[in-house]
Amino acid sequence: MIDQAVSALAGKKRILVFTGAGISTESGIPDFRGPQGIWKQFDPADYTYDRYVDDPGFREESWGKRFRSPYLGASPNDAHRAVTRLWDAGRLVGCVTQNVDGLHAAAGLDPEGLVELHGTANQIHCISCGDRPEFDEIEQRWESGEADPSCRRCEGILKTTIVYFGEDLPVDATTRAWNMAQRADAVLVVGSSLCVYPAAFVPLDVVDRGNPMVIVNRGKTDHDFRATALVDGTAGEILPELADRLIDS
Ligand code: APR
Repeated sequence: MIDQAVSALAGKKRILVFTGAGISTESGIPDFRGPQGIWKQFDPADYTYDRYVDDPGFREESWGKRFRSPYLGASPNDAHRAVTRLWDAGRLVGCVTQNVDGLHAAAGLDPEGLVELHGTANQIHCISCGDRPEFDEIEQRWESGEADPSCRRCEGILKTTIVYFGEDLPVDATTRAWNMAQRADAVLVVGSSLCVYPAAFVPLDVVDRGNPMVIVNRGKTDHDFRATALVDGTAGEILPELADRLIDS
């Protein structure tokens, strides 16, 4: 399986890497739709932007989950590091991730080569005036008892930049992601079910222009039928070998 992936990507110099929650499960962060996925415990319909804006109780619950998250201390794994090595070796047009865990950045991936399409849990902004207070400042205010800290500049609602259902994707991230897809000569999907849009349109745009798609994923995705090569397995084992063989090719 991995041989087919290597031959599909050998010689490609502008690979777009598209990652989902499956690249972070070996760092201890559950995915959404796998056997122990988050959406098996919680209802995604509860995580809407409108509910966050309208319901102070939901905001307090969200801040509690954020600042008490067991995943706060998660570290990148060998798959994240393999993506960084491919970027450093000049083989990628970039990495577009759906993940909000910040682990690609923590694995040393150049910000120039990273698009966090669904935002990140590590940044906070005011949904009214756009102010971006430091994460630590808001965490300290929460620790000292402000259950739903508001914007110091305009008293507006503060929120992590995680994109909730019903919320538009960030314009700058979307623009950068489409730009990478337009320039890509191949796409490598890692750990995504490819079932959420508009994010999934990014890798599909590369395929629609006649370029190969390699999917490294445990189990099926919604677009396996369009892949040049499918590697059904664990990202933390497959990506390092794939990166080694591509960098040497
Ligand atoms: N190696 C390879 N694949 C894995 C691993 C692993 N270690 N662990 C899990 N997987 C696979 C799962 O089997 C699943 O097919 O990764 C895929 C993850 O799919 P999802 O859980 O649907 O996650 P993702 O595709 O990132 O979801 C997209 O949905 O809920 C929204 O905004 C949320 O960004 C998320 C979006």
